[in-house]
Amino acid sequence: MSNHTLSEKIQSFYNQNTELFLKLGHSSEGSIHRSIWAYGVSDRHEALHYVDNQICKLLLKLHSDSVPHIVDLGCGVASSLCYIESEISVTGLGITISEEQCKLAKHRINKNGFSEKLQCLQGDFCKLPKNLEKADLAFSIEAFVHAQSAGAFFHQVSSLVKPGGYLIICDDFLADESLLENKKAQRWLNRFKDGWLVSSLLSHQQIMKYASQAGFKKIESQNLTPYLKLNRPRDYFISLLIKILGKHSLKSRYFQMLYGGHALQKCLSKQWINHELIIWQRVND
Ligand SMILES: C[S@@+](CC[C@H](N)C(=O)[O-])C[C@H]1O[C@@H](n2cnc3c(N)ncnc32)[C@H](O)[C@@H]1O
Repeated sequence: MSNHTLSEKIQSFYNQNTELFLKLGHSSEGSIHRSIWAYGVSDRHEALHYVDNQICKLLLKLHSDSVPHIVDLGCGVASSLCYIESEISVTGLGITISEEQCKLAKHRINKNGFSEKLQCLQGDFCKLPKNLEKADLAFSIEAFVHAQSAGAFFHQVSSLVKPGGYLIICDDFLADESLLENKKAQRWLNRFKDGWLVSSLLSHQQIMKYASQAGFKKIESQNLTPYLKLNRPRDYFISLLIKILGKHSLKSRYFQMLYGGHALQKCLSKQWINHELIIWQRVND
């Protein structure tokens, strides 16, 4: 499969499914990611904004005289950017590969009265436009796994993030590279990758290598898997549906997403995949 085809597939996947995600999915607030029921989280709103709140905490630690500039790599409809802006004064840029999401993001930004502070661009985070304003903090929530080249992603962030600035990735990671030799695990991992158009399912060690080559040192990582709600009643229903449809699910974009999501649930519950939040700081040049 050529890279060009894959990026078009991801684009059309989000162009066609975003409205549906927002209507039927987890969130009325525009988040297209899973809720995190960590200790102290008392309701769905907090669970959906758990990662956004971790970003806010880090921003409060930045000792900058000016308003911090943040970049969301794979921003969906700018839900995280708008939430962060409502908590802390920042300037921000969101990048999404989907033009439909970009329209919805701009609408959300305007509706919230943040058009002077936030912007959204349609583009590829592996090939960012030149001359973007340098970021104090860049983050990517459930988007990095789509990167067609993890090396290209880190090459971009190393020139985007200021020395001393932060990079945060919240995503799914392979628990152990030896699982690629395990036939049963491999079958489910491949289902997840096919269904969710995943190109960069990396192990912790692999991503650490990319990050350190790009000049980032790890500050913190949190395994969020125990805080996901797995095996809800709707997941049993989806599991039944996918058993009936099998690979035919891949013919419809919506069922393709359910097919990948079902496989991901299996991989998470078997601990073949971990859902993690990793924070790095860019070392000074
Ligand atoms: C699961 S959604 C997460 C959206 C958002 N981060 C959130 O949490 O609501 C994945 C996002 O990654 C974006 N994406 C995937 N590949 C991309 C790429 N190469 N460049 C820019 N955005 C990309 C999609 O357009 C989508 O916005």
